[in-house]
Amino acid sequence: MSTSPKPVKKVPIHLQSAANRVYIKNGEIVNHDKSFKADVYIEDGIIKFVGPPSEITIPGGVRTIDASGLLIIPGGIDPHTHMQLPFGGAVAVDDFYSGTKAAVAGGTTMIIDFVLPNKHESMIEAYDKWRSWADPKVCCDYGLHVGITWWSKSVSEELGILCKELGVNSFKTFMAYKGLYQLNDSDLLDVFERIRQLNGVAMVHAENGDIIAKNTQRLLAEGINGPEGHELSRPEEVEAEAVHRACVLAHQSDCPLYVVHVMSKSAGIELARARQRYRGRYIMGETLAAALGTDATCCFHMGFEHEAAHVLSPPLRPDPTTREFLMKLLANDDLQLTGSDNCTFNKEHKAKGKGDFTKIPNGVNGVEDRMSLVWEKGVQAGLLDPCRFVAVTSTNAAKIFNIYPQKGRIAVGSDADIVIWNPNATRTISKDTHHQACDFNIFEGMTVHGVCEFVLVRGRICAERGQVRVAEGFGRFIPTPVRPPFVYDIIEGKVQSAVQEDHPEERQNGGGNSVAKKF
Ligand code: URP
Ligand code: ZN
Ligand code: ZN
Ligand code: ZN
Repeated sequence: MSTSPKPVKKVPIHLQSAANRVYIKNGEIVNHDKSFKADVYIEDGIIKFVGPPSEITIPGGVRTIDASGLLIIPGGIDPHTHMQLPFGGAVAVDDFYSGTKAAVAGGTTMIIDFVLPNKHESMIEAYDKWRSWADPKVCCDYGLHVGITWWSKSVSEELGILCKELGVNSFKTFMAYKGLYQLNDSDLLDVFERIRQLNGVAMVHAENGDIIAKNTQRLLAEGINGPEGHELSRPEEVEAEAVHRACVLAHQSDCPLYVVHVMSKSAGIELARARQRYRGRYIMGETLAAALGTDATCCFHMGFEHEAAHVLSPPLRPDPTTREFLMKLLANDDLQLTGSDNCTFNKEHKAKGKGDFTKIPNGVNGVEDRMSLVWEKGVQAGLLDPCRFVAVTSTNAAKIFNIYPQKGRIAVGSDADIVIWNPNATRTISKDTHHQACDFNIFEGMTVHGVCEFVLVRGRICAERGQVRVAEGFGRFIPTPVRPPFVYDIIEGKVQSAVQEDHPEERQNGGGNSVAKKF
C-alpha cells in the first residue's frame, strides 16, 4: 500500500445546497493502481478534493460520513446486462428500474446494456427503443453496446452513425444462436474490419452455433429434453473452439476483440494464449459472477425448476474447479473484467422449456451480487488484492469502453460514483431479500464478505446501511467515445504490449504469470 501524493492547495468551498455536498472522512481509498488514506469531498456529483483533512476546510451543513475502517472504492461498472430484454418468447423481468436499483444496492453505479436488434431491424431504431426504455427508468448511469445480429450495407452505414453520433463504441457479434443472431466467418471478418475502421471495439459471444444445432437435434432425438441437455449440447470445447476462431478472425482484421462471458477453463486458456500471441489488449475477456460464484454441480438431480433457473449461454460447467481457475485468470490479467450478464426470467417463463430444453429462456441474475461475489471468491479467498478487485469490477470497464477517468477512479474531477465498502461485514444472499424483480437467485444461501455501507451515484447517497433510496430516471446515458487509448495505443504502436511476460515485476496487482505459459 502506498501513500497519496500531497495536494498543494486548499480547496475553496462554494456554499451550495447541503444535499449536493458530501464529505467522506477517515476512509482508505482503493484505486486500481494504489490504495491510500485520504478524505474525499464531493460537490454537485463531482469529486472536488482527495487528500488529507489538513488541506481542506469544510463548512457546516455538509453531510459528513465517517468511513473509519472502511474502503472507498470506485462504484462498480457492470459491462454486461440485459434489462427487460425480449428473449426466448419472454421479457426479462428486471427492467431498467428494478435492475439498476438492484445494481446500486450491490455497489454497481453504472451498467452497460446490450441493444439487440431483431434480424433486419435497423440498429438505430433498436438503439432509440432501448433509450426510450432506459432513460426514464435508470437509477444509475448507463451506456449501451449494440448487437450486430445481421450484416448488410445498411448495417455497416448505421455502425458509422452509432460511433460518430450516438455514443456507442462497442458491438457484440454472435457465433451462436443459429438462425437468430449467428454470423458466419465471412460476415464476422467484414464486421471486424468495419469496426476497426471506426476505431471501435468488437465483442463476441463465442460458441460454435453449428455444432450446438447438430448436438441439439441429436439429444432431442435420443429423448434427452431436460435442462441437462443444454450443457450437453454445448460442452467446453464448443466454446473454446469459437474463442480461438474469433481471436484469429479479429487478428486478421486488425480489430480489437472483447470476448464476453468466458465460462470454461478451456475457453479461458484459448483467450490467454491469444493474448500472448497477439500481445495484449488486442484481445480482452470477461467472465461472469455466475461462473465465479457457482457451477453446474449445484444442479445435479435438483429437478426442472432449479436446473432451468441456472440455464444461460455459454452454460455453467460441471467441472467444479472452473470457478477458481477463472478467478486466477482475472488475477493474472488473462481476463480483464467481470460482468453479470443479468438477464432474469421467473419460474413461469423458464417453465416454457419443460420437455424441450431449447425453449428455456436463457439467463440468470447477478447485477446485485457481482461485487460481493468477486470480493468473496477473489479477495477473501486470497486470489485478488483490493486494487485488482477494483480493476476487474470497475476500472478496466471504464478504460476499455473509454470513459476513464470520468468513471472507474476516485480522483479529483471524476464522477462521484463511490462505494463505501465494508470488507469485514457479511451478508447472506437470498431471493427473499434481494432487490431484483426475479423469483430466484442462483447464489441463494451463500454468505459473502464485502457489504456496501454507502453507495453514491454521482454524489447522491442512494444506499445507506441497507436502506436503498434510488431515484427513478436519475441515471444518465453516458456516451462511450471511439478509440479507447487503453486499447488503441497498443494497436497503433504508441505503447508497448500490455503483456509483459518478461518483466512481471513491472505489473502491479497480479499479472505476468499468464496461464498461457503453462498450457
Ligand atoms: O444466456 C445468456 N447469456 N443470455 C443473454 C444473452 C447472451 O447471450 O448474452
Ligand atoms: Zn451472449
Ligand atoms: Zn443449485
Ligand atoms: Zn449477455
